[in-house]
Parts: sequence; structure tokens; C-alpha cells
Amino acid sequence: MIVELREIVREIDRLKRERTAVIVAHNYQRPEVQDAADFVGDSLELSRKAAGWDAEVIVFCGVLFMAETAAILAPGKTVLLPDLDAGCPMADMITAGELRSWKARYPGRKVVCYINTSAEVKAESDICCTSSNAASVVNSIPDEEILFVPDKNLAAWTARQTGKKIIAWDGCCYVHDRFTPADIRAAKALHPGAEVWAHPECRLEVLGLADKVLSTGKMVREARETGRKEIVVATEASIIHRLKKEGPATDFYPAREMAFCFNMKKITLDKVMRSLKETTCVVTVPSEVADRARGAIEKMIEIV
Ligand code: 13P
Ligand code: SF4
Repeated sequence: MIVELREIVREIDRLKRERTAVIVAHNYQRPEVQDAADFVGDSLELSRKAAGWDAEVIVFCGVLFMAETAAILAPGKTVLLPDLDAGCPMADMITAGELRSWKARYPGRKVVCYINTSAEVKAESDICCTSSNAASVVNSIPDEEILFVPDKNLAAWTARQTGKKIIAWDGCCYVHDRFTPADIRAAKALHPGAEVWAHPECRLEVLGLADKVLSTGKMVREARETGRKEIVVATEASIIHRLKKEGPATDFYPAREMAFCFNMKKITLDKVMRSLKETTCVVTVPSEVADRARGAIEKMIEIV
């Protein structure tokens, strides 16, 4: 099995050189996929880097909205998502048609869309945000009342940070929404000296019990610098692989067992190798949609 894995990694390396490809991965990817990637990051870092890769092919190990964002920002490159079924269920909670009808009920209101949305929804929005910059993006809009799609938890957290009235779509992430205050209390009882870090896709009552509320990229940076011996994390469990690499002197514990995003886990090294070999699972965004969606993403990138 290990021999087979090594052979796959060797073949991926060979194909990467042959195809002038780069492999990028989100922090929730399987450990072996993270290890095979040229760059691992959060949604903002992955978007910022998308246009700048010196490569013809970007193999995106993440979920569909992330690969679409790369395709929008790097229109000349071929973007592969090694399993096209790796979607984000939260992104699927709102369609462009639903957003259009919702906007019609609130004329004149600006729409902030979380990056976890389809390209079509981004095309209907004024500006995009990620978990690491939602407050700055909302604060960049002078209005006091703003529409936010699709994550009601991130919206509630951002409203608290900014003091603005945020009208949120009723969406959430099935991985983060399942964390409960009881999970955090139980983890604290088990690790009394630990600091608690939570992702802003968790519910407000969970975030209220955390010492720090952080995007995955900010967790990675904190892991490098923290002097703490133990940290409990309320987010997708595969990030612990990355956190341990960045902060080897710290013990990281999941706030809840089995907090896995099964969509992120659809990407395997075998699928990476096959999509690279056969140029399958290409992600494209129609230029008319991409042009409008790019405006919302670039506005965000200009701010933070
Ligand atoms: P980050 O941008 O913090 O990596 O979050 C992305 C995501 O999908 C969280 O569920
Ligand atoms: Fe979507 Fe949640 Fe998975 Fe992130 S963890 S990709 S928000 S389902």
C-alpha cells in the first residue's frame, strides 16, 4: 500500500513536469494530498495565488467553488478538479435564480457573497469575502444594512464584528454547524490547559466559548507562533495534519470526533494522477459568468 502510494507520488511528479502543472490544496485535504501539493492554503490564499502560478495546468485539490475561482482568476490556464463531484453543500444552498429573487425583496442593498458560492452566484453579487476577511469586506461597504449569502453563521459572526445589520441567507456548513457548546465544554474538560480555536462557520454560541475565531489560514499562522502546549480546534479535522507540521511542539485536538468534510475527502492521489494523465475533470466557467464573478472576487482582493 505504502509502495503503491510512493509510486503514485512519483508518477504525479513526472506528470507535473511533463504538463507544466502545479498542485494546490486546501487545508482540509487528506494528509497525503496536502503532502503532495506545491502549495496548501485557505480560500483567500488559494484565490490570491491562482493567477500567478507559472504553470499551464492547475490541479486543484479542494471543492468545486475553489476550482471555479481559480478558473475565473486564471482564464488562460487549464484547471482540473480531480473529482468533479467534490462540491460544497453549503455553496449549493443558493442558486443564482434564488439570489435574484431575494435581492428583489431588498432593493438597493449590496450583496456580499461568501467565496463558498457558485460562479453564477458570485456573478450576481457586489463583492466576495472569505472567512479571513469577512469583517473588512463588510466594513468596506458604507451601508448599514447588507445582504450576505449563504452562511448564516459567518454572517452572524461578521455582524457582531462590524456592528452592521446583516440580513443572511439561511445556509450553513454541515461540518461546522454540528459543533455544539457541549462539544467545546467536553473538550475543555478533557484538556483543561488548552486554548480553543474555532472557525467562523461555527454557530455563534460555539464561537462565544472559543479563545480565538480563525480562518484555516490564520490557524496555520497561529500554529507557527503559539507557545501553547495544547490547542483544541473546532473545524474540519484534516487541518490537524497541517497544524502539527507547522507547530510540532503543540498538541492539537479536534473539538469533536469525525468532523470531516466528505466532499473534500473525495480528492485522492489516485484521482490526481488520473486527471493529470488524461486531462479529465476540467473546470470551466462560461466567460459571460466569469467576467461578472471576477469583478466581485477582485474587489475583495483589492481590499485585503
Ligand atoms: P477557509 O477559507 O478558512 O479555509 O475555509 C474554507 C471552508 O470551506 C471552510 O469550511
Ligand atoms: Fe463546504 Fe463545509 Fe466542506 Fe467547507 S467544510 S467545503 S463549507 S461543506
